[in-house]
Amino acid sequence: MEAIRLNHPLVEHKLSILRDKRTGTKEFREIVSELSTMLCYEAMKDAELEDIEIETPICKTKAKRLNEDKYAFIPILRAGTGMLDGLIEIMPNAKIGHIGMYRNEETLEPVRYYYKAPKGLENREVIILDPMLATGGSGVDAITAIKESGAKKIKFLCIIAAPEGIKRIQDTYPDVQIYCAAIDERLNEIGYIVPGLGDAGDRIFGTK
Ligand code: PRP
Ligand code: URA
Repeated sequence: MEAIRLNHPLVEHKLSILRDKRTGTKEFREIVSELSTMLCYEAMKDAELEDIEIETPICKTKAKRLNEDKYAFIPILRAGTGMLDGLIEIMPNAKIGHIGMYRNEETLEPVRYYYKAPKGLENREVIILDPMLATGGSGVDAITAIKESGAKKIKFLCIIAAPEGIKRIQDTYPDVQIYCAAIDERLNEIGYIVPGLGDAGDRIFGTK
């Protein structure tokens, strides 16, 4: 499945602020949240709606409603939690899981330290959140854990993706649709995305 990239002037504008090294924690966090909301709109384009009948102040009418309960958001700690606010704002009733992992700085392979998913994943669409898709190691490991919990439909939302990470997910899990705001040039020798935005976790939480 081809990765879907948001193509919109507002996204380009927000990305330019996010990438700028002078942007401080508060604004960085706000923009991660805004871009996540935009990614969520795109990812929900194929959502199935239920027919309902409602009454407006004028008359009865047919309408369509989303069963938010059928969705689970699973951010990859830490940085993925920065995307959660923007999604909860528009889908407050979705279930939320967490997967904790960090990259071993030498091997760049992910080390998983926490996993808690909502029950009944086999009947929910799972949306994984992580702002940075670099080598794809974290993404692939998260998808593996979530599939082992029974999930059948999985989407991966990120803000910046490297071609290497997209390829790794597509080669391992071709059924997982990737959504991103930007596809950058490449990874550097220490596994950072170029031009990227630096370390997303540190910039969201102000830890450096
Ligand atoms: C970052 C990022 C991804 C991962 C991407 O997390 O948030 O989870 O790296 O890299 P990959 O595609 O090569 O696996 P990091 O390990 O820095 O942890 P943090 O979110 O706790 O800062
Ligand atoms: N993780 C980040 O936070 N930034 C990168 O560029 C790559 C991985």
